[in-house]
Amino acid sequence: MNALTFLRAEHESVLGMLEVLEGAGPGAPGRDDMVANLVIAESRHETIEQEIFWPIVRDVVPGGDELADTAIGQEVEGEKLLDTIEHGKAGEEEYESALRQFLSAAREHIEYEQNEVWPRVREAVPESDLEDAGNRLEVARKRAPTRPHPKTPPNPAVLKTTGAMAAAVDKVRDALSGRSRHHPPETPPS
Ligand SMILES: [Fe+2]
Ligand SMILES: [Fe+2]
Repeated sequence: MNALTFLRAEHESVLGMLEVLEGAGPGAPGRDDMVANLVIAESRHETIEQEIFWPIVRDVVPGGDELADTAIGQEVEGEKLLDTIEHGKAGEEEYESALRQFLSAAREHIEYEQNEVWPRVREAVPESDLEDAGNRLEVARKRAPTRPHPKTPPNPAVLKTTGAMAAAVDKVRDALSGRSRHHPPETPPS
């Protein structure tokens, strides 16, 4: 699958969750599950972008370093907010404030990627390389961490090793906590 098709499907899924959460205050039915799904989807998505997508942007796209630095900066800030949410409790001021900030930051981040980065990627990266990257994203998604790890540096080599370890630990924690049932649906094929 083309990498941008894959990432777009993930963005659509996240945007759907953002929309629901924008309209759901503390105590709204299903809100906690939706937040859990959002944390899982976002943790995986940004990790695999950092492992596979941004290195391609840096290597191939003119001005790619600057684009990647800006986007990864946004991802790191987002991950800190997710970590606050993950360790907080709905209704508490710190949690609610982190969630509010995340909802708008995530929209801005997706817009930045789709409007600023992707058009340049389409121009610079051959279709066959995008197909190859899409396949690697699909594989990496299966072993990506399901929780935010703000202390793991967003470096592709580090993510490949410590990211896989963190993911394994997350899966055990998910199983113990019953959180594994919150896993969002697989990205639909397109
Ligand atoms: Fe991203
Ligand atoms: Fe993205």
